[in-house]
Amino acid sequence: MIREIRMTPSILNADFSNLESEIRVISEVSDFVHLDVMDNIFVPNFTFDFESAQKIIAASALPVDAHLMVADCDQMGPQYADIGCASVTIHAEASQDISGTLKTIRNAGVRAGLGIKPNTAVELYADIVELVDMFLIMTVEPGFGGQSFMDAMLPKIRRTREIIGDRPIWLQVDGGISIETIERATQAGADTFVAGSAVFKAEDPAVMVSTLRALAQNVAD
Ligand code: DX5
Ligand code: ZN
Repeated sequence: MIREIRMTPSILNADFSNLESEIRVISEVSDFVHLDVMDNIFVPNFTFDFESAQKIIAASALPVDAHLMVADCDQMGPQYADIGCASVTIHAEASQDISGTLKTIRNAGVRAGLGIKPNTAVELYADIVELVDMFLIMTVEPGFGGQSFMDAMLPKIRRTREIIGDRPIWLQVDGGISIETIERATQAGADTFVAGSAVFKAEDPAVMVSTLRALAQNVAD
């Protein structure tokens, strides 16, 4: 199956004192920059408040793929859609109104993503597939970078690909993506890759993004 591969590096493990230039470093070789927003409620970690996220989004050399790991995603999803993100992903476990929030994000002209944690079954959301522009399958427990890819998620990635069928929905994986794991995630059906520590701990982050893309593209072609 020929699939278009997208690279969406996460700046969670980049230098937070200089995010603008960290994003610039990967901008030539990446499709989006993945912005992890954590509220210390949905996950046991905090990243940015709305105001600092807004500044990063406004200054970003790349379109922003926001990953909202926040409890009040039904309110924040639409807010992030309004401040210039290209894609906004909410977590199914946090939302009280998944369909409504996905529709509001889409109505703002922004791609609507639905993310699920490792213990959440994707089948629960098969009936709202038409409202989803991207599924995000977490391949670690959300909250921190630098964790190991969970091979136990491979069947879920496969199942998500089956649910997607021939719809133009992107299938993103997030957590532990590296040169060791990207090929098996692609083999299972992923086409959109978050990589945080693998990219920003590499000697040359841009070369790493290109290397990862080539490995995935080779499997997808
Ligand atoms: C974790 C975040 C990830 C994180 C991935 O909850 O959602 O985007 O940055 O980091 P790595 O690639 O290091 O696992
Ligand atoms: Zn993420």
